[in-house]
Amino acid sequence: MYRVFAVLMLFILTAGFAVAPPAAAQTQSLAAQSGASVNPHTTPEDAEAGAKSFRRHCSTCHGRNAEGFRGPNLTTGSFRHGNSDAALFRNILGGVGGTGMGGVYLPDRQIWQIISYLRSLSQTPQEAPIEGDPVRGKALFLEKGECATCHRVNGQGGRRGMDLSEVGWRRSLDHIRAAILKPSEVIESRFRLIQMTRSNGETVDGLLLNEDTYSIQFMDENENLRSIYKSQLRSVYKPDLSLMPDYEGAFTKQELDDLIAYLHSLDGEPDHD
Ligand code: HEC
Ligand code: HEC
Repeated sequence: MYRVFAVLMLFILTAGFAVAPPAAAQTQSLAAQSGASVNPHTTPEDAEAGAKSFRRHCSTCHGRNAEGFRGPNLTTGSFRHGNSDAALFRNILGGVGGTGMGGVYLPDRQIWQIISYLRSLSQTPQEAPIEGDPVRGKALFLEKGECATCHRVNGQGGRRGMDLSEVGWRRSLDHIRAAILKPSEVIESRFRLIQMTRSNGETVDGLLLNEDTYSIQFMDENENLRSIYKSQLRSVYKPDLSLMPDYEGAFTKQELDDLIAYLHSLDGEPDHD
C-alpha cells in the first residue's frame, strides 16, 4: 500500500516538473514583452484603433474619453504607476496590485494601440488650463462653500460626499466643474437621496446605501448608518437629485476657478492639502 502511494507521489512530482518549463517560458515571454521599451504600433491608425478598444474595455471605469470616472483621468500624460511604455503595458495587462485596476487581458497589439491612443490624448491638450489660485480655493472650500461638511480631504471633513483627497488625480477639470455646477447630472448610484415616510407620518431623509426585499439601509443626516423595515414605511421616494447642492450662481467666475484649482491640486499627497 505504502509503495503504491510512493510511486503515485513520484508520478505526480515528475508530472509537476514536466509542466514547469512551459509555465516558466510563458512568464519569461510576458516579461520580455512588457520589457520592450518602444511601442511598435504608433501610427495614427493605431491610435484610432486604440480609441475603439479603449471604449470597449476601459471606459466603464476611466470614462468615454479617458477623462476619469471610477478610475483616474488618463489624459494628462503623467501616470503615477509609471510613465514609460513598458510600465503602461505592464499595468494594463497585469493591473495595479491592490487597487480597482485588475489586469485587462488583451492581445499585445491591442494594448500597444491603446497606449498610442493615451499618448495622443496628452499631445493635444484636452482642456484649457485653469487660472485659479488653489490657496484661495481652499479657503472657499472650507468657508463660503462649506464643502467640508460633506467631503473629506486628507482625513478631515464629513462623510456624506466622497473623499476628495485624490480628486485632482481621478477627475478631469471638466468633470470637477460639472460636479459643482450640475451635480444631479453626474449622480453616482452610491449617493442617491432617499426620503421615507413612516407609518406614523414621520419623515426620514438620508442617503441610500443598500436595499433588499425587507429593509433599506441608509445614512441619516448625522452620518449614522441606519436600517429600516419596509413594512414600517408608508412611502419611499427616491428623487433623481444629488445630495450635493447645486452651486450654479453661488460663486463668481474667479471663485469657481479658485475652487477648481484647489481641487485639481489634490492628488493624494498630504503635503498639497
Ligand atoms: C474595473 C475598473 C477598471 C477598468 C475596467 C480599467 N481600469 Fe485602469 N484603473 C482603474 C483604477 C481604479 C485605477 C487606479 C489604481 C490606483 O488606485 O492606483 C486604474 C489605473 C490605471 C492606470 C494607471 C494610472 C497611473 O496613474 O499610473 C492605467 C494606465 C490604466 N488604469 C489603464 C487602463 C486601461 C488602458 C484599461 C482598459 C484596457 C483599464 N485601465 C481598465 C480601474 C479600471
Ligand atoms: C450636502 C453634502 C455636500 C456638500 C455641502 C457638498 N457636496 Fe460635493 N458631493 C456630495 C455628494 C453626495 C457627491 C456625490 C454624488 C453625486 O455625484 O451627485 C458629491 C460630489 C462632488 C464632486 C464629484 C467628485 C467625483 O469624484 O466625481 C465634487 C468635485 C464635489 N462634490 C465638490 C464639492 C465642492 C467644491 C463643494 C463645496 C462648494 C461640495 N462638493 C459641497 C455632497 C456634498
